[in-house]
Amino acid sequence: MEPLKLETDSLRDAAAHRHLLYGTALCTSDLTEKRRCDTILRECSIITPEYEMKWDRIGGADAPDFRASDRLVAFAVENGLAFHGHTLWWHESVPQDLGEASDARFAEAALEHLTRVVRRYAGRVYSWDVVNEPLETDHGRRDGLRHSRFLRAFGPTYLEVAFGRAAEIDPEAVLVLNEMGLEYASPGAERKRRAMLALLERALARGAPIQCLGIQSHLDAADQPRHHPELRAFLREIDGLGLKVMITEMDVSDQNCPRDRRLRDGMVADTYRAYLELVLEESRSLGVSTWGLSDDRTWLATARKRPDGAAVRPMLLDRALRRKPAWHAVKSALLSARNPDGGVEPAFPKGKIN
Ligand code: G3I
Repeated sequence: MEPLKLETDSLRDAAAHRHLLYGTALCTSDLTEKRRCDTILRECSIITPEYEMKWDRIGGADAPDFRASDRLVAFAVENGLAFHGHTLWWHESVPQDLGEASDARFAEAALEHLTRVVRRYAGRVYSWDVVNEPLETDHGRRDGLRHSRFLRAFGPTYLEVAFGRAAEIDPEAVLVLNEMGLEYASPGAERKRRAMLALLERALARGAPIQCLGIQSHLDAADQPRHHPELRAFLREIDGLGLKVMITEMDVSDQNCPRDRRLRDGMVADTYRAYLELVLEESRSLGVSTWGLSDDRTWLATARKRPDGAAVRPMLLDRALRRKPAWHAVKSALLSARNPDGGVEPAFPKGKIN
């Protein structure tokens, strides 16, 4: 078979050949450096705010601060990039001043925030992580839901409330339920996959407009299995529910890899490739985003420090924004993706923020 002729040698064009988006999480500080900005524009067709669109960052009703999120959305619109909104409701990003609020006040504030943000960017956002990380099977509920302020304030159908309101305001946006830890091979991950399927079946049966499952994909090179039948079966069941899939936050920690850099880079690259090939084979995917682009800007530098103190190397580009084996591995997986009619060419919106 003739090797694909790519318009440019970039991940965005490799992804586009399979009707996929490829992108990264970023912050406004990334846009202040020309080389980094140019790299984002060369490689990406979708961007995700790593922090600056979260509720605790925008703040409460009295003085919401949209300057940073407006800057990121404007960057996407000006450059014809899709924008993945992250995230509307997440138990870890609730403004502190709601800590002591009553359930009724919390419910009112949460709906007010969701309505305000979705309305502000309606028509400018390709997709939304409407709810992030709803499950915690260790909390002991039969439905596997996490004990959170959202559950306490709205009850176990809070997903339907959030997705229903978002769909009313921006019917064009792809509405995503985003979760971590569905990818692993542990018994806990299998419990979480079963709980997620049951949660989605119930919510969809009640008419919740959930269109896509976001799989965060924070992997570990030393223990992510190459052969993963449970994950394949799960993805097939998700496909059977008519749901698309998005890889929303992919990175591969080298925390538990040997110190040797070539060996580490190889293990990380091989993990990206095997994982991406599996997910793209078994799901109708819309896009793949990594949680950052380069080794000098990753949450893993603090969250998954190496015991030997060596600088971590989890991303696709090195600290000088040069392509690593992981970049080539992701490109190879994107180009080999079958991806049946999964992706769509999103009509990227133009124009001003509402
Ligand atoms: O920008 C402020 C800075 O002004 C201040 O001096 C500093 C110290 O307080 O905080 C800075 O904000 C930090 C922000 O990252 C930007 O660096 C916040 O405290 C910190 O909580 C925030 O952490 C983010 C975290 O989500 C919580 O929102 C991480 O960058 C981000 O990588 C992480 O991403 C999450 C996804 O949203 C959900 N999935 C898991 C993933 C990793 O935890």
